[in-house]
Amino acid sequence: MTPRLRRFVLTAHIIFSVGWLGAVAVFLAHAIAGLTSEDAQIVRAAYLAMGLSVWFVIVPSNIGALLTGLIQSLGTQWGLFKHYWILVKFLLTIVGTILLLAHTQPISYMAGVASERLISNTELLGLRVQLVADAAAALLLLLATTILSVYKPWGMTAHGLRKQGGENTERPANRKSWGLYVLAAFILLILLFVIVHLMGGGIGSH
Ligand code: HEM
Repeated sequence: MTPRLRRFVLTAHIIFSVGWLGAVAVFLAHAIAGLTSEDAQIVRAAYLAMGLSVWFVIVPSNIGALLTGLIQSLGTQWGLFKHYWILVKFLLTIVGTILLLAHTQPISYMAGVASERLISNTELLGLRVQLVADAAAALLLLLATTILSVYKPWGMTAHGLRKQGGENTERPANRKSWGLYVLAAFILLILLFVIVHLMGGGIGSH
């Protein structure tokens, strides 16, 4: 890609990906209000807003982040499988996309109920708790991808080194940073949560 095009795609990538993070933070606030508020009007408004934001902001941002990420990886010297930070981001984004698409239906269901009537405090509790847990997991996942994007840890993969045709002197330095082990543990925790959840063992098991 020409430098001008690369800057354009990078700008679009940051807008979509960090926009996705911001929209999920708002979605989490709505999910918590929908679960805990004593005011039936606020509960109703929260689920109506979640139904709108998932289709008009969160899903488009997710698709935009993934597509621009792939264009950047395949259109620059970064590659897709040459650097651990991009490979891990790619896997996390795929997991985030599966989690999101698996939940558009229950979110639309809650918004549908809210558009018809008020929701009592004890109604659909399992699903409402589920939506808070999923939004929190998605936010952690997006925080992890953003941190990875700025710190770019762990150096090159064996495939990347082969492509580069030699040993990468940078790698030993990265091995010492304990913070990045914490991030790795974080990522594994999120993946574990998602796998348990998608296998139907989630909190509310909708
Ligand atoms: C929600 C997920 C994502 C977030 C929050 C995110 C965030 C970012 C950010 C903030 C940057 C700028 C880093 C900098 O300039 O220092 C960046 C760059 C980059 N991202 Fe992502 N990203 C995400 C997903 C992806 C995916 C899925 C891929 C690959 C398939 C990807 C590939 C890249 C590449 C190659 C760059 C470097 C571009 C360049 O330097 O020109 N990203 N990302």
